[in-house]
Amino acid sequence: MPIKHVVAPSSVDVFKPDIFQGKVLFCTGGGSGICKVMVEAIMRHGANATIVGRKLDRLTEAANELSQLTGQTCVAARADVRDPQQLKEAVAKTIERFGRIDFVICGAAGNFLASIDGMSENAFKTVVEIDTLGTFNTVKATLPYLRASHGAYIHVSSTLHHKGTPYQAHVSAAKAGVDAFSAVLALEEGPKGIRSNVIAPGPIAGTEGISRLSTQMLRSAGSSAYPLGRMGNVQDVASAAVFLFSDAASYITGQVLVVDGGFEHVRVSQ
Ligand code: HXC
Repeated sequence: MPIKHVVAPSSVDVFKPDIFQGKVLFCTGGGSGICKVMVEAIMRHGANATIVGRKLDRLTEAANELSQLTGQTCVAARADVRDPQQLKEAVAKTIERFGRIDFVICGAAGNFLASIDGMSENAFKTVVEIDTLGTFNTVKATLPYLRASHGAYIHVSSTLHHKGTPYQAHVSAAKAGVDAFSAVLALEEGPKGIRSNVIAPGPIAGTEGISRLSTQMLRSAGSSAYPLGRMGNVQDVASAAVFLFSDAASYITGQVLVVDGGFEHVRVSQ
């Protein structure tokens, strides 16, 4: 029997449009890709935002676009997440502009395909420093403000490390560290009113993960390869972020939310 194609409802239509009114989001890696759409979805629910990345031109363009699309204010702040001082300056810019931070998305990530044998020590270290150390640095820079607002973190991880994925040793090690770090953060800061969760997107159409980093087999997998009858889209991931930051998720912390339409289970069962 053919699998029915299911159209995902947009979170914009599910949650009230003002649930994040007066809230402020700080997002690393928010200038492009999945994270940019997450920022858009959260701004569409009333939040203002700062997006952080290495390329100020691209960030400024994205911030202007996000402001126009949502009617909220988005600010661009240049920082390399490997540099704690640059992150502190990005946080200071956010506080100066908005006075608070409620939500943080740790989304900045590095990735390229390389075998363990073909990867230099510096190549491995670079990705771990961007993904894992960058997450630590972002949390350290924002933690005092999230304690004040009783805010929440979302760390963008992946499903690559749940089982082995060839040519992704560096990212797998880095994201496993992110998952573990988030769980510890949830335990240590839960009593101070902070939640920390991970979103692990599976294959998502129209992203770098598919166009540049996935195998031909994955790219050519038809909709029947997915239990829900279609590949994921960026809105699916953004909707998960809206949910996790919302009060509907107020008793959820220390979790990894896989957004892959059940794809991981198909891979495991084959
Ligand atoms: C092997 C590579 C390489 C490659 C870089 N290196 N690219 N090694 N193959 N393709 C090595 C370099 O030779 C160098 O080692 C070291 O990595 C650092 O490279 P630099 O270019 O000097 O570092 P930097 O400028 O900091 O850039 C780091 C970067 C980054 C990791 C390459 O620019 C990057 O990742 N950009 C892409 C970001 C991206 O696509 N993110 C999306 C993630 S989505 P040596 O030894 O020569 O000094 C995602 C989902 C996956 O991950 C889902 C899949 C299905």
